[in-house]
Amino acid sequence: MIGVFDSGLGGLSVWKEIIKLLPDVSLFYVSDNAWCPYGPRPAEEVVERSRVISRFLIGKGCRLIVVACNTATAAAIDTLRQNFPIPFVGMEPAVKPAALHSRTGVVGVLATQGTFGGRLYRETSQRFAAHVQVLERVGTGLVELIEQGLTDTPQTETLLRTYIEPMMEAGADHLVLGCTHYPFLIPSIEKITCGRLTIVDPAPAVAQQVFLQWAEAVQAADLRQEAAPTYWFYASGSEDELQARFQVLAPSSLPSTFFSGFCFP
Ligand code: DGL
Repeated sequence: MIGVFDSGLGGLSVWKEIIKLLPDVSLFYVSDNAWCPYGPRPAEEVVERSRVISRFLIGKGCRLIVVACNTATAAAIDTLRQNFPIPFVGMEPAVKPAALHSRTGVVGVLATQGTFGGRLYRETSQRFAAHVQVLERVGTGLVELIEQGLTDTPQTETLLRTYIEPMMEAGADHLVLGCTHYPFLIPSIEKITCGRLTIVDPAPAVAQQVFLQWAEAVQAADLRQEAAPTYWFYASGSEDELQARFQVLAPSSLPSTFFSGFCFP
């Protein structure tokens, strides 16, 4: 089994890409929605949550864990890799492809405070985006709206405009979604950008990485693939939001899915 976790619903945007590439593998998803949002929390707190959840997922039999959260990747991926004997795949800040393909030399990045503050983002930007102007905006309030299912409302659009319009005015031609919650806002973002910005979502590339790492894990441990996958969903807070969002996302032909609340210590 593969474990996937996020502070809430956002990781489902990655989960969706993983099941496309690995349709036979069972997945365990944890939404830490009792602690959402992670973005403004101190890094030590996010590390601790990531540790607790990883322990839980490993206890459930997961052999690979996907940190489907940019903020948790920024804070905790090094610690997780040092502390647990299984492979971890984290989110990559997609500033590299955006910088590579930008024609105007200006790219916008929307992410959380925690992600911008992390070493991974800083190093990636310095290495691959030093030749372009990077406009960074913390998407304050967006995660909370998405968790409430308010992805396509006037309130959400108004807030998004305050982040995205200045980027367009400054000449940006790419918008990097640096938080796994934000792909749920793509229809609202497109209403604002009207095709003027290329939206960059790293989820497909991360799923590709999961695919490769899983192939290695299967080979190394001689794991047997199950014929029919099962999908489990755990929430540390309300499981209703998770279930409601999942219903919008999930292809109708999905096999067994189970939802459960879970009280993480
Ligand atoms: N989905 C997350 C991320 O990619 C977490 C956002 C949050 O909880 O603030 O950063």
